[in-house]
Amino acid sequence: MNIRPRINRWTIARRNLNFATDIKSSLVQPHFVVAGSGVNQPIESMPGINRQSVDVLCETIAGDMALGITAHMLFAVVDHHDKDSTASKASLPDMPLQQAITRLRQEYGGEIVIMTDVCLCTATDHGHCGIVHNHEIDNDLTIPELCKIALSHASAGADYISASDMMDGRVKAIRNTLEEAGFTSTGILSYSVKYASAFYGPFRDAASSSPTFGDRGSHQMDIRSGYDEAILEAVSDESEGADIIMIKPAMTYLDVVRQVADAVTRPVAVYNVSGEYSMVMASTSEEQSTASLVREIFHSFKRAGADIIVSYHARATIAGNWLD
Ligand code: PBG
Repeated sequence: MNIRPRINRWTIARRNLNFATDIKSSLVQPHFVVAGSGVNQPIESMPGINRQSVDVLCETIAGDMALGITAHMLFAVVDHHDKDSTASKASLPDMPLQQAITRLRQEYGGEIVIMTDVCLCTATDHGHCGIVHNHEIDNDLTIPELCKIALSHASAGADYISASDMMDGRVKAIRNTLEEAGFTSTGILSYSVKYASAFYGPFRDAASSSPTFGDRGSHQMDIRSGYDEAILEAVSDESEGADIIMIKPAMTYLDVVRQVADAVTRPVAVYNVSGEYSMVMASTSEEQSTASLVREIFHSFKRAGADIIVSYHARATIAGNWLD
C-alpha cells in the first residue's frame, strides 16, 4: 500500500487542521446538504443546525470561513424519491453534495478543508449502510458502491473522503480507486472506531437515515468491546492507507481515544456526535452555561489525544469566543 504522508500537509488548510495544537484550529463544522434553492430548514432535535441547499450552505460556509473555521464535513440528505436499494444516486456528479464540493473548491482553493461523508445509508431506501443481500449487509458487495461514491467526491474536489460505513477492507479499496484515477493528493479520513451507539439519534432524524428494519450491530462496533478491537480497527485502517483515524462517539469513549492515539501514527479525530450535542443544548438555554460545558468537553478531547474535533458546537464556540 502506498503511504503518502504528504496528503496531510498538501495545503495550508490541511496543515492547520492536522498539526496545529490549539482547539480553534482543530475544529471541523458538520453540515447537511439538501436539494433545491433557498432551503434553510431547522433540525428540531439539534437547535442551531439546519439542512441547507447548496446556495444557503455556501453563504453559511462563507460566514464560517470569515470566523476562521476552515474545515467542514459535508453530509448529503437525499430526497426520498432519489433513494433506492443500492444508493445509486449518491455518486452522480449533479447531486447537491457534489455541487457543493465543486463550488467550495472553486471559491476557496487550498484555504478550505472539505471532508465528505461516504456511506450508503443516506441514499438507500432501507436506510442501511451497505447492500442488503439475504437480509444481511453484504460487506464485499458494498465496497464497489462506496468506491463509486468516493470517486465522485474526489472528482468534485474533496480533501478527505470520510468513510463512515464500517465495512471491512474499504479503506484499502478506496485508496486503490483513488490511486488508479490519479487522485494521489486526496485523503481518507476513516471512521475506524465507530460504535453502534444510541447517540446518533438526532443525526438519523436530520439525514432521514434510520434503518427500516434491523440495526447497525453487524458492522458498527459493540459498545461493550474493549481496547483490543478498537486498536485492531485503527491499526488496520492505518495500514490500508487511512490519513486520519476517527473515534466516534467522543464523550463516552475518551479512554478509547487515548488508547488509539497511543497506538497509531496518523492524526486522530473525534466525532462529538449529534446526541452529545443535543444533550448539551437541552441542558441549558444560557449561552454562558453552554460555553462552559463545551469548553470543558473540548479540553477533555484534547487531553485524551484528539488532534481534530468534529463538532456541531464549532461555529457557536468561535462566534461566541467560548474558548477565551
Ligand atoms: C453515516 C453516519 C452517521 C453519523 C455519521 N455518519 C449515522 C449512523 O451511523 O447511523 C452520525 C453522526 C452523528 O450522530 O452526529 N453512517
